[in-house]
Amino acid sequence: MSNRMSSEVPEIRVSDERVNRTLTAVNARAAEHDRSLFEQVRDSLAVAVPPEAGTLMYQLVRATRAAKVVELGMSLGVSTVYLAAAVRDNGGEGRVYTTEIDEAKIKQGRATLADAGVADLVEVLEGDALQTLNSVPDGVQFVLLDGWNESYLRVMKILEPKLAPGALVLADDVNLFGEGCVDFLEYVRDPANGYLSVNFPMGEGLELSMRVG
Ligand SMILES: C[S@@+](CC[C@H](N)C(=O)[O-])C[C@H]1O[C@@H](n2cnc3c(N)ncnc32)[C@H](O)[C@@H]1O
Repeated sequence: MSNRMSSEVPEIRVSDERVNRTLTAVNARAAEHDRSLFEQVRDSLAVAVPPEAGTLMYQLVRATRAAKVVELGMSLGVSTVYLAAAVRDNGGEGRVYTTEIDEAKIKQGRATLADAGVADLVEVLEGDALQTLNSVPDGVQFVLLDGWNESYLRVMKILEPKLAPGALVLADDVNLFGEGCVDFLEYVRDPANGYLSVNFPMGEGLELSMRVG
């Protein structure tokens, strides 16, 4: 019986070079296929942070008592509500500066903020973050990067001079499609650039970077 079983059950050879070469090539083609589909529809997507990531950002803003918070990518306002609720619950004169480029999402995002009762804490900067974020005041204590990840490094370079010592930057979707923001990750992971950075394997990957000094 055992002989018959062993001759019928195919040998599993996941370490086989040819198997691995094939799997690697097919996975690369699949990722490219998905990336191109994603790029065709992404402007109309309304993906929001999952509740656990929302809770994490609420915790971080509360724990650091952050009063100046910046967000790239409001979309329909889900993450903005977490950030604004945390700023409000910190007490004082806190403010969230969020930016969104898509007109339909701006309208829906504003409605979400009004529904949640946090609109008065949020300044919605309408338009391309690469322009709008220049108007954010100094002393930023918390940043959420949640736009298209290939822009993260350019956005960081705009915000960097405005960051308070110890500011936290939470970047979402850093592992999406083979790390479209690999330049950003290399930058914040190099201590010479003034950050201490760690990756959270949550969702499509979160990177939490602290501005040192
Ligand atoms: C993943 S969604 C944000 C989801 C949102 N943070 C949430 O959790 O509810 C990304 C958003 O970034 C916006 N976006 C992408 N590039 C942008 C840019 N350069 N300036 C402003 N908004 C941008 C998109 O229009 C999209 O609504």
